[in-house]
Amino acid sequence: MDAGGGLSGLGARSTFGGIVIGPILGVETSCDETSAAVLGPGGEILGLVIHSQDVHHVYGGIVPELAARDHLRRITLVVDAALGQADVKRKELAAVAVTAAPGLIGALLVGYTWARAQAFGLGIPLIPVHHMEAHLFGPVLENPEAVPPFVALLVSGGHTLLVWVPVWGRYELIGETRDDAVGEAFDKVGKLLGLPYPGGPEIEALARQGDPLRFAFPRPMLKRSQSEDDPDFFDFSFSGLKTAVAQTVAPLEENGTLESERMHLAAGFQEAAVDVLVGKTLRAVRAVGCTRVLVGGGVSANKFLRDRLVHALGRDGTLFYSSPRLAMDNGAMVARAGQFRADRLQESVQEVSARAPIPGSTAWQGSLRSGGAGPRRPTSIKEGH
Ligand code: KG4
Ligand code: ZN
Repeated sequence: MDAGGGLSGLGARSTFGGIVIGPILGVETSCDETSAAVLGPGGEILGLVIHSQDVHHVYGGIVPELAARDHLRRITLVVDAALGQADVKRKELAAVAVTAAPGLIGALLVGYTWARAQAFGLGIPLIPVHHMEAHLFGPVLENPEAVPPFVALLVSGGHTLLVWVPVWGRYELIGETRDDAVGEAFDKVGKLLGLPYPGGPEIEALARQGDPLRFAFPRPMLKRSQSEDDPDFFDFSFSGLKTAVAQTVAPLEENGTLESERMHLAAGFQEAAVDVLVGKTLRAVRAVGCTRVLVGGGVSANKFLRDRLVHALGRDGTLFYSSPRLAMDNGAMVARAGQFRADRLQESVQEVSARAPIPGSTAWQGSLRSGGAGPRRPTSIKEGH
């Protein structure tokens, strides 16, 4: 499926250097949030609605077919509500931005097809957006200073990425997970502890009362890899950590003491996961020589993680992040990334797909130069998120 649209639909709407930037509608349906937002020409949020699907709670995880069906049921209502909040009529819209990849393919297709039909009917451009690029644009919605250069730590249910962003549109992949994403690990550990889906916020809350030292969990690929020459140096792995929690939980469950140990297990797991995230981010900061760091994606809603990052970066460092509402999947970040992509549509995601690299992503040039970790494939995207 091609991107469709094109900039031929420009009318008397707000433009910048000939490029439409607002009011723009952003649509997000890649996973289990149906969201729409309307942004003004300066990137200000005029309306934002996020519908989090609760149908998955029954199953303790996302059921792709149900996600797609629920998006279809809600999308018109969600967009109408966002337009209503913004007091913007459909015919006043300048463009429609939509998440085209990566994600659950059925879920993506609902949002993309819906947005494409809208754009076609209104005669305005359709701007396909990469979901992880949208997460990079989350913090700038609330803080105009959250712009490159920065090292980005993107942490969600489907991704764990360390990216050097010298300018918008140039994304050099420093590290990524070899197996589970960190959000996925939070969710799976949550399930092991009998917590509702999604496990991330539940674990964070439970961990506040727990002793992180009571159970010692591994810090995968943190201790072992010590130099940039080591291919593990900037990468992550969370499946072993999840297994370690599972192996600790099993005997506790058997002897009936799991309930009283849950908060300590949550604290121990969170501490280990955050140690790895912070440790690897610091490695990237030192290697790149930039102390401006952006943390994005659903897991960046975790205050414990953000506090640790701020502390690790010290007084010379700066951490950019979103409020929890904009850290999770939402249409505003999609609209904001769409404003950026409006003048380079040919470089947008061209296909609706479960997996696709962020447009403009390459191997980290620094590591190529130093002969360190070596060439990397562009940011790959795991199916399912
Ligand atoms: O970005 P996001 O909303 O959706 C994806 O693109 O995947 O991220 C969702 C993930 C889930 O795994 C959820 O458990 C995690 O973000 N999450 C958290 C917290 N809030 C959401 N993880 C840890 N602590 C939190 N407070
Ligand atoms: Zn996301």
